[in-house]
Amino acid sequence: MIAVIWWFRAFVISWLRFFFMRVRLFVEARAATRSLAGKIAGAVRRNRRLVLGLPTGRTPIPLYRELANLHRRGRLDLSSVTTFNLDEFVGLGAGDANSYRTFMQRRLFDAVNLAPRRIHFLDGRAADLDAECARYERAIRRAGGIDLLVLGLGTNGHVGFNEPADALRAHTHRARLTPATREANAGLFGRASAVPREALSMGIGTILKARQLVLLATGAGKARCVERTIEGPITTRLPASLLQVHDDVEVWVDRAAAGRLTKGARR
Ligand code: GLP
Repeated sequence: MIAVIWWFRAFVISWLRFFFMRVRLFVEARAATRSLAGKIAGAVRRNRRLVLGLPTGRTPIPLYRELANLHRRGRLDLSSVTTFNLDEFVGLGAGDANSYRTFMQRRLFDAVNLAPRRIHFLDGRAADLDAECARYERAIRRAGGIDLLVLGLGTNGHVGFNEPADALRAHTHRARLTPATREANAGLFGRASAVPREALSMGIGTILKARQLVLLATGAGKARCVERTIEGPITTRLPASLLQVHDDVEVWVDRAAAGRLTKGARR
């Protein structure tokens, strides 16, 4: 009898987990990013004043291309939308070639009709970085909170720049980057040693307060991390696993990134 109750409990917990962390599986990355652009465009059509959270990294590049295409074809009007990017390197800001701000300018902002005053970014060159983090939290609050936050996934399980650690920070904060993350960002800077050692990032609490989360992960290099994020225990050693507690989170993956998921989760 106890075994049956135990089995039933385990079944319900795993079912709830898959229910809450909905997995959207696509044959290839291109299809995932095209569909996600469509989802964002739909959300903007329903709410012109949508507050959108955005990531950087290689993964969302095709997403930004799709959003730019939709805008060019007259199917996406971002004029009333507000954006908040997740993170920025300490020491870098607008005008620095390697900053995330410049990345976003080139990949998205220059190609769409976002109002510059509604684009929000952390300034890694601010004189008082703690005050800058507090300002960002206030700005998110003043905008009414983030409606839809798109996240990328670091291969070590980081989201934003919330790195694996014994404890995580809830609010926007100054973060020390791990060697693995500096290596992963080497492409922007030419070599890992040139990547700043610190960054500013939304905290895990800032992220979990967004009304809807979409975690986008593509490619076989993310498969192990996707598996641990969805099917593993919740642990600060894998910050993305904390997303399991959010009640409106979707994980968008291509077949390669979903390669290690159990069949139930892949549906
Ligand atoms: C950086 C960003 C993260 C991003 C990650 C994944 O470290 N701070 O927000 O999710 O890269 O990058 P990629 O998409 O290139 O794998």
